[in-house]
Amino acid sequence: RYIGIDLGTSAVKLILMGADGTIYKTVSKEYPISFPRPGWSEQNPCDWYEQTKAGIRELTEGTDTTDIAGMSFGGQMHGLVILDKDDNVIRPAILWNDGRTDKECQYLNNVIGRDKLSEYTANIAFAGFTAPKLLWLKTNEPDNFARISKIMLPKDYLAYRLTGVHCTDYSDASGMLLLDVKNRCWSGQMLSICGISMEQMPALYESYEKVGTLREAVAEELGLARDTIVAAGAGDNAAAAIGTGTTGSGRCNISLGTSGTIFISSDRFSVDDNNALHSFAHADGNYHLMGCMLSAASCNKWWMDGIIGTKDYSKEQEPITDDMLGNNHVYFLPYLMGERSPHNDPHARGTFTGLTMDTTRTDMTQAVLEGVAFAIRDSFEVAGKLGIKIDRTTICGGGAKSRLWCRIIANVLGIDVDMPALEEGPSQGAAMLAMVACKEYDSVKAAVDAIVKVSGTIHPDKEIAARYDRRYNEFAGIYPALKNVFA
Ligand code: XUL
Repeated sequence: RYIGIDLGTSAVKLILMGADGTIYKTVSKEYPISFPRPGWSEQNPCDWYEQTKAGIRELTEGTDTTDIAGMSFGGQMHGLVILDKDDNVIRPAILWNDGRTDKECQYLNNVIGRDKLSEYTANIAFAGFTAPKLLWLKTNEPDNFARISKIMLPKDYLAYRLTGVHCTDYSDASGMLLLDVKNRCWSGQMLSICGISMEQMPALYESYEKVGTLREAVAEELGLARDTIVAAGAGDNAAAAIGTGTTGSGRCNISLGTSGTIFISSDRFSVDDNNALHSFAHADGNYHLMGCMLSAASCNKWWMDGIIGTKDYSKEQEPITDDMLGNNHVYFLPYLMGERSPHNDPHARGTFTGLTMDTTRTDMTQAVLEGVAFAIRDSFEVAGKLGIKIDRTTICGGGAKSRLWCRIIANVLGIDVDMPALEEGPSQGAAMLAMVACKEYDSVKAAVDAIVKVSGTIHPDKEIAARYDRRYNEFAGIYPALKNVFA
């Protein structure tokens, strides 16, 4: 059996899985997130580790733990975790959806230059990426910067505490803006621009490679075998792609989690000329392009939990009938944390537009779901302009539990949406990476072929899709009209 650990933004989700894809148990453990200023977001890496350990104990309760051969991770990407020479966490991790680095991104993109960044790394600077955070720290917290002994990403902190190995994998490292993605090595130029050294950086592994085994004390504490193998794991989107079978050329997965991503796998390296899509390494040894919106299912959570004050999401969605799809007079811009793809604007904000005296709560609920779907389409349009034709996609993440939301997405994009038989996405992908590290399968592809299945497909409806086409064109005009208001 294998443990897959998805270190998310709201919770760590763990899965216990058999080599044939049987899911024995899942566990989820939450931790807090803090927004110290508008547009900033931080978490305490020690919370991640404590909750992961609690999760592993709960997951394996009552099972024969000698059966557990390995574990691996999918992790929220880009977060900056820094340790001092005694392995203490220096400051809270600055997360992927933190927008404080506008100045540093301007410097990187305009002074160092987008062309140079793209040449060194295959990408340009976005506010959530790790390199601009290091520059921010150097200017704003020089004492903390001077104490850095080890730099790592969120899931790598778990691997470090569990095994003692300072490591990362290529898919996650791609989002640091410190990796030469094409050549799968650290970029000397980028390290020197950020004022850091190779010794501070983690060792690089393929996602499906073994990085070590459990530290003796950790094995004892968790009641697991000392030789339990730990594989490097992947960024959560790459792990979700493995979990949904998105490998090989031109396959697509949409993740509807706190963030919203479109993930297009490829068996060769390529760069979007405008760098609107990220060009990253994949967890299967190949590459992918990705568009990332900073708030997706989190918009619905904000609207439901925070504003309406309900946990019963499906009851709120029940009154939304087919004839209402594509006929909503309300639009919602989902930029509650600024936006990454395709606008690259940390100042962008959420709005409801088009409210009238007869607007209902249901119209607004629908607008939130649609606004996220339209923003996903923005990234599809970018891919389309690159000549990438996507005619179907899988979907995963908490938001995908809403059949209505998946239908809206199928119709807004006008493509088939395949529903995976197993819904766990990143944690399932992580368990599969552990299987490859433990030689249960020869390759990630072999694990995908054996385990991943589709349970059904949502087809777009011609009339609804045509209505959404018109609505999308109107939606696309709202952000440009408001851009200066947000600035
Ligand atoms: C991807 C990104 C998000 C996080 C969410 O670039 O920033 O999808 O990985 O956990």
